[in-house]
Amino acid sequence: MNVDVAVRCDNLVHVYGTPGAEVAALRGVDLVVKEGETVALLGPSGAGKTTLLWHLAGLLKPTAGAVEVAGKRLATLSAAELAVLRVREIGVVLQNPGRNLLPYDTAIGNLLFAQRPTRRSGAAKRRRAHALLDSVGLGGAATRRAGRLSGGEQQRLAVAVALANSPGLLLADEPTSQLDPVSAAAVIDLIRAANEESGTTVVAVSHDAAVGAALGRTVTIRDGRVGSEGRSGEDYVVVGRDGTVQLPPEMLDTLPPGTLARAVRHDHGVDLRRIYDAGESQ
Ligand SMILES: Nc1ncnc2c1ncn2[C@@H]1O[C@H](COP(=O)(O)OP(=O)(O)OP(=O)(O)O)[C@@H](O)[C@H]1O
Ligand SMILES: [Mg+2]
Repeated sequence: MNVDVAVRCDNLVHVYGTPGAEVAALRGVDLVVKEGETVALLGPSGAGKTTLLWHLAGLLKPTAGAVEVAGKRLATLSAAELAVLRVREIGVVLQNPGRNLLPYDTAIGNLLFAQRPTRRSGAAKRRRAHALLDSVGLGGAATRRAGRLSGGEQQRLAVAVALANSPGLLLADEPTSQLDPVSAAAVIDLIRAANEESGTTVVAVSHDAAVGAALGRTVTIRDGRVGSEGRSGEDYVVVGRDGTVQLPPEMLDTLPPGTLARAVRHDHGVDLRRIYDAGESQ
């Protein structure tokens, strides 16, 4: 067991639906996230980002392949063991902000409820709750019901709730999608502080360039697979376990789908040389 690996997906496949009406949302995802890493999951709508995040949160069962979180293979855990792992180790912000909250409880009540499993004193829980509310600009909304907050306010509260117990792993699905740039920056700062101060590993789905820029690594999902990765401002394609490579979309004008190309090996890699254009008679 590799203790410094926070998340591992091995050939993860997820098919939704019933026989005859299947949707293959994940088609063999291989991904390793080390403890303390911060990763932005990017990719077009429908690519499988939310499905992947739900697997990491233990909310879906793989059709094939495996998911490991904090050294534990999720499919081998009982429902009770999975619940303990989720409460102790994982903070989750779902794509629909309202689904993360107790709508009839107040903002502060949601933060106190989230801290149930900790051994903090009541006063310490309150201090933590107020500090978190302040950090996301909701200091004045402590006693308002979560269900009455705006979508953006709910989203900020949901991130605060997910981080209330300083989880080992934060999974956030579009945590800034409903926020203006100032509120988004506050949420990004809070996530970065959790990473820097508590070592929280972060996997966040986002279309927001500011989130991508704030996190250490980007992983792009296309058609249910990891297509490319970005590290330190450079983009790299990922060779899948069956040898497939997804070309970056901006290169498809040079090699459009259907092009016949020759793969030519050389000292440092492989070149793709066009033989026939797509649709050209041979
Ligand atoms: N409950 C479901 N039943 C059937 N198909 C589903 C279900 N949830 C998602 N899908 C399908 O699985 C594929 C991946 O969906 P997913 O929600 O993971 O994409 P996404 O990358 O998060 O997209 P978005 O950026 O729009 O949120 C899509 O084709 C979607 O229609
Ligand atoms: Mg989604």
